[in-house]
Amino acid sequence: MNTNIILFASGKGSNAAAIIDYLKLHPFARVSLIVSNKKDAGVLNIAAQENIPSKVVDKEFFHSQEFKLQLQSLKPSLIVLAGFLWKIPEVLVKAFPEKIINIHPALLPDFGGKGMYGHHVHDAVLKAGKKESGITIHYVNEVYDSGGIILQARCVVAPSDDTDSLAQKIHRLEHFFFPRTLEFLLKQ
Ligand code: GRF
Repeated sequence: MNTNIILFASGKGSNAAAIIDYLKLHPFARVSLIVSNKKDAGVLNIAAQENIPSKVVDKEFFHSQEFKLQLQSLKPSLIVLAGFLWKIPEVLVKAFPEKIINIHPALLPDFGGKGMYGHHVHDAVLKAGKKESGITIHYVNEVYDSGGIILQARCVVAPSDDTDSLAQKIHRLEHFFFPRTLEFLLKQ
């Protein structure tokens, strides 16, 4: 029996790629669909290369009952936000309780919330003079970046770090821990 994972992503898709690669060795879990809100998102090239179906959604469809029904028909074990920038509508949160997982590139509850994504997060961490940062993998609820925390991993912020070098450290943590955390959740 296959276990389906649906990925939502808005950007380059390096986390999506790490998850897809990792699951190649998994006995039964596969990414069955990649959903993006941007038609030129890099993640759609990854979907094409990997022969994974993909779907670009506009805001109206994203909030529709029809989209919810389409997702439900795939019976996903998890819906994974791998760098997805839109807020998840309540209709989806309610339809998939404890099944929607997000990764945030900082140690929540700090440096989260609306507008805190990508380099904005790393800039804020550096500006605050933090000595460490990290990643937070958490359940998604109705409020940005506030669902139950599943895993956090940390890295040192060195005095020499800038936005790019910190982003690289965070991506390394993400690519290691995100696929493994999903695998762990599938076993629960
Ligand atoms: C990641 O840093 C993730 O934490 C955040 O968005 C970024 C996505 O990067 N939510 P990528 O598209 O997976 O490379």
